Amino acid sequence: AIRPIILSGGAGTRLWPTSRALHPKQFMPLTSERTMIQETALRVSDSERFLPPVVVCNEEHRFTVASELQQVGISPEVEVLEPVGRNTAPAIAAAAALCAAHDPEELLLVLPADHHIARPDLFLDVIAQGAGLAEEGKLVTFGIVPDAPETGFGYIRAGEAAGEGGFAVDAFVEKPDADTARDYLDAGGYFWNAGIFLFRADRMIRELEALAPDIWRHAARAVTTGRLDLDFLRLSAEAFELCPSDSIDYAVMEHTKDAVVVPADIGWSDVGSWTALWDIGDKDAHGNVVSGDAVMQETQNTFIRAESRLVATIGVDDLIVVETSDAVLVARRDKVQDVKAVVARLKAEG
Ligand code: GDD
Ligand code: MG
Repeated sequence: AIRPIILSGGAGTRLWPTSRALHPKQFMPLTSERTMIQETALRVSDSERFLPPVVVCNEEHRFTVASELQQVGISPEVEVLEPVGRNTAPAIAAAAALCAAHDPEELLLVLPADHHIARPDLFLDVIAQGAGLAEEGKLVTFGIVPDAPETGFGYIRAGEAAGEGGFAVDAFVEKPDADTARDYLDAGGYFWNAGIFLFRADRMIRELEALAPDIWRHAARAVTTGRLDLDFLRLSAEAFELCPSDSIDYAVMEHTKDAVVVPADIGWSDVGSWTALWDIGDKDAHGNVVSGDAVMQETQNTFIRAESRLVATIGVDDLIVVETSDAVLVARRDKVQDVKAVVARLKAEG
């Protein structure tokens, strides 16, 4: 069986005003009645295929995570609590160290807590494909066919067939600049990295030892000198704080020689912006995606989320309107990436 490792460390600033530092995206119901972390855990809850998950999150979120999962009947194996965020490489290193202590060859499936997958059955199929490759010692990534020169993703150039429908990774380039992303899209043969990884614990550890020895050393020690308290493993702050902050993509995936990519036509979205939610949402006859109380007149291709009050629009197109009890966002649909800048400004202005 496969061990899901759920990473729940993101801040989700691009989904302001719904998502806030203390209540980031993974704890919001965005694509269904359930929160993103609940959807993520339920997707891998079939006990014939999966072991109980390990969740890696900030200490501050320990009770939120526990109650979110409990509400959908899932008890994690353990919650690994980070005293500080050090990005994904230390989080994954700690999870691998913990799991390898019981079974070095355990298959670990790293899952971001805040992604949407429209076709969960196909998702399970590609995971099963990847499991064969991971057992052989490959670091398996899942490839999404790109449809825009996005700069926020990793790009994977697929090489020779590697069995099980997978391909060797010829090149992995994390977050290329806009020109490079455009070149990749024009060239073809590239996938976006979905941010979902499958590998044997011992294999990831070997890569970390070789490619990111400081991260490995401090993260492993943060586990062995950590404190287990009920279902919580508190990483030792003194050790974990020494980990350099880096993502698994930069630290390992760009450099390893053993990566493969399994194409994954699973209806994936990282729900990186309000526009992404408009993209994946159910549209009415006018192309509007609406949740909550809204009255729309002569309004098209607009996203409305009314959380606490009635929202009315007249004669507008291509807008994002997000109403919460203490803040309202109105933006052109093609401008929502700039929400990040607004959040930064609010922070700076206190
Ligand atoms: N526990 C923990 N601790 N989780 C973290 C931390 C941390 O310090 N930092 C990030 N995470 C979680 C986030 O919550 C998210 O679920 C996941 O790890 C990925 O982190 P992001 O910060 O969202 O990464 P990204 O979007 O910049 O890039 C990654 O995802 C893309 C696809 O969405 C990369 O893997 C890219 O290559 C990929 O294309
Ligand atoms: Mg992301």
